[in-house]
Amino acid sequence: MNIRVQQQPLVALESDLVVVPLTQGEQSSENVQALDVALNGTLQEQITRSGFTGKDGETLLLHTQGRLPSRSVLVLGLGKADNVETETWRRIAGKSYREARNQGVRHLAWFFAADCGRDDTLAAVVEGTLLSSYTFDKYKSEKNGKPAVETLTLAGTDLRKTPALTRALDMAQKTAPGVFLARDLVNEPASVSTPTYLAEQAAKLSRGNGLKSAIWGLNKIKAAKMTGLLAVARGSVEEPRFIKLVYKPAGKPRKKVALVGKGLTFDSGGLSLKPAKSMETMKLDMSGGATVLGVMQVVAQLKPQVQVTGYVPATENMPSGTAQKPGDIIRYNNGKTVEVLNTDAEGRLILADALIQAVQEKPDVIIDLATLTGACVTALGTQIAGLFSNNQELADALLRCSKESGEPLWRLPLVKEYKEDIRSAVADIKNTGSGNAGAIAAALFLEEFVGGLPWAHLDIAGPAFAERDGSYIPKGGTGFGVRMLVRYLLSL
Ligand code: BES
Ligand code: MN
Ligand code: ZN
Repeated sequence: MNIRVQQQPLVALESDLVVVPLTQGEQSSENVQALDVALNGTLQEQITRSGFTGKDGETLLLHTQGRLPSRSVLVLGLGKADNVETETWRRIAGKSYREARNQGVRHLAWFFAADCGRDDTLAAVVEGTLLSSYTFDKYKSEKNGKPAVETLTLAGTDLRKTPALTRALDMAQKTAPGVFLARDLVNEPASVSTPTYLAEQAAKLSRGNGLKSAIWGLNKIKAAKMTGLLAVARGSVEEPRFIKLVYKPAGKPRKKVALVGKGLTFDSGGLSLKPAKSMETMKLDMSGGATVLGVMQVVAQLKPQVQVTGYVPATENMPSGTAQKPGDIIRYNNGKTVEVLNTDAEGRLILADALIQAVQEKPDVIIDLATLTGACVTALGTQIAGLFSNNQELADALLRCSKESGEPLWRLPLVKEYKEDIRSAVADIKNTGSGNAGAIAAALFLEEFVGGLPWAHLDIAGPAFAERDGSYIPKGGTGFGVRMLVRYLLSL
């Protein structure tokens, strides 16, 4: 999509559809009056007739019948003026994009009144528009035949293309492809998006973007003694892979950040088999890994002054004659032993190996993302990810970025007393908790492997996958976390 910023009055704007956002009670604003001069009073008339008040999400579509250079006008309600958040702009941008697409619009424009064309608003509109343009229809015989929107014009009488605006729009435009990559990787069925496939995509990504990569197959994984990854992979015909991508900035990096993503390409539960219904969406279980790959792609484009290493342990979790068994004990490379009581608590087993690898390289910060527990979904629902951290500054920074990106996080505690719950009778720890506070038990398990470094764990089991279409997040893989982490890395 081509994006332009233009300083011009509404009556000079040429497009197929122009979106005019209005706050509640603004029905007779200057914007409307200016427009109405050109429209012969029809806008005011329609506003009155339809009872449009500018409530959040309200829309009014009218055809200009040749009175304006634009074919039609979409008046959009923003809700109360003092209550319009960045996320509101993102949502209504998504909504207008879909309306535009349904109408076969090729040239879409927005007109901003003097006081609403702030940089972050414009960036949010671009972000919401781009993100809602995503489709995954490669397996559909009948595609949505409508052409894609070609241009998005942001216009206003006092809009100016400042360096800050250019930077904000550039970030939105370079981040969307990373979100799309993550969504694609999740949406591909598990029999396509295998560990080998993920590794190939990662290799392709690093080649195309000047990243360093190390992709380990079975032999190297064995040589590195990644025992958790090997134990989970044992039950599957698909070979595991361990993916590492490195971005190094020119000059001295301000910080070294390790990103670790769970790359479980299909979670059947293993011998602790899941019921059929719970397995339906378990291709989503590599969402953390997909987000890490998405972030690496964006980082290679935006080139922040930080070193970023992405680690993705990738495997399936399957039952078979060679699968690990409940009661088995794993001895990790750092000396810790783990009793596997439930083979469905496999995410923490493979993340442990990746965390051990990350710690060896002494990063300043480790952030892991994983669709780790159903318990986190029970606690926070499908819209919010759980945040666990041993470091206040890191937790605060992530919460701030999450607010900015509209990817909600809620901090949950690492309750020391609950370490009891993961104590094992025969090994150092076990991979299940007591049955209560399952998301905390899983986080406490991971903490055992971070060597005391500043670390944050995002349990994205809820928001990684959308069961329904949202305003700018279509059903399926969401790419949750890409935009937040990009903001975080740029802020360092
Ligand atoms: N991948 C699942 C967690 C999950 C559940 C993700 C629902 C997305 C939606 C994970 O591997 C798992 O099975 N966790 C178990 C842990 C339990 C056996 C201790 C769970 O949450 O039930
Ligand atoms: Mn599982
Ligand atoms: Zn899993």
